[in-house]
Amino acid sequence: MLGGMRAVVITRPGGPEVLELREVPDPLPGPEELLVRVRAASLNRADLLQRRGLYPAPPGAPAEIPGLEFAGEVEACGPRATGHAPGDRVMGILGGGGQAEKLVLHHRTCMPVPRSLTWEQAAAIPEAFLTAYDALHVQGRLAADESVLVQAAGSGVGTAAFQLARAGGGSPIGLTRTAEKRRRLEEAGLRPVFDPDDPSAPDRVIRATGGRGVDLILDLVGAAAWPLHARVLAERGRIVVIGLLSGSRCEIDLGLLMKKRATLVGSVLRSRSLDEKAALTREFAERMLPLFSRGTLSPWVHCSFPLHRVRDAHALMERNENLGKIVLTMEDDPAAEGR
Ligand SMILES: NC(=O)c1ccc[n+]([C@@H]2O[C@H](COP(=O)([O-])OP(=O)(O)OC[C@H]3O[C@@H](n4cnc5c(N)ncnc54)[C@H](OP(=O)(O)O)[C@@H]3O)[C@@H](O)[C@H]2O)c1
Repeated sequence: MLGGMRAVVITRPGGPEVLELREVPDPLPGPEELLVRVRAASLNRADLLQRRGLYPAPPGAPAEIPGLEFAGEVEACGPRATGHAPGDRVMGILGGGGQAEKLVLHHRTCMPVPRSLTWEQAAAIPEAFLTAYDALHVQGRLAADESVLVQAAGSGVGTAAFQLARAGGGSPIGLTRTAEKRRRLEEAGLRPVFDPDDPSAPDRVIRATGGRGVDLILDLVGAAAWPLHARVLAERGRIVVIGLLSGSRCEIDLGLLMKKRATLVGSVLRSRSLDEKAALTREFAERMLPLFSRGTLSPWVHCSFPLHRVRDAHALMERNENLGKIVLTMEDDPAAEGR
């Protein structure tokens, strides 16, 4: 079909079976936008919610094509889009539309792909690393030598946060329920990682901070994690809530927040304004991209699927099996399947 592309389409609210690969018209870049040929796009927890009809796309984003991040090649630039040229390798965050062969995005929300990275590695960076960077450094005001508790440490965001915390001079401690993920994270040098369901977890976390308590908690879990957070938070500690995997409602003792002079912050990336997303992208690109080339930071790719196997990718994430990111690739290369 001339002027058409393949895209993942959410055909109705439901399970992975409602996802279909369909021919849709190519998107058209606006004056300040880039048209990008997507090479790889990653999956996010938000895609599962969107598929179930619980997290509609924000205004301006394609309503039925999911995908919050991508890596690809610039194909064309709008007349007022600056800083990029056709052929450039770029990556970035989106309000949606990334799980398609082509997409458009504002030129200010695009970053260059470090030369050392493959398409799959690059696609695993934007959403996870920008979210974690913002939570740690902007919302959480992480200082060198502070301790950081990373919930769901084996998630896409968690694996990014663990590395960023360490790169920022902090001492991260991870929590994840799956023994195999704890083993593999620790084997890769991301340690210590404990089981949040182990009754001794709060004591272990406090011991890992030398008895002081945790300065900054990156909360990806929400309601069920509050009792542990209340126990381990240090005086003047901060809790940054960016995920609600276990639910959003729980009882909080406000007296404890006062006694510890604690700060509780909530944050979300997808619904932010263009200016906010552009400023975060620029700051991250300037400060953090060089660390990927040096190997201080590296995206964790659990596996990749060709686009037509998007249902399998959703099912895998829903089973909580991934350690790091699940990537969708645009080439239907049988050799890449299930890697
Ligand atoms: N605020 C933002 O802007 C923003 C942006 C991106 C992502 N997020 C949030 O960050 C979180 C992680 O996203 P992701 O895409 O990186 O996730 P992911 O890779 O799918 O990993 C999530 C992991 O969390 C653990 N988990 C699942 N349900 C849980 C529960 N009920 N209680 C405790 N742990 C649970 C599971 O690991 P174990 O079973 O091994 O524990 C699961 O593998 C999500 O909540 C997502 O919505 C927020």
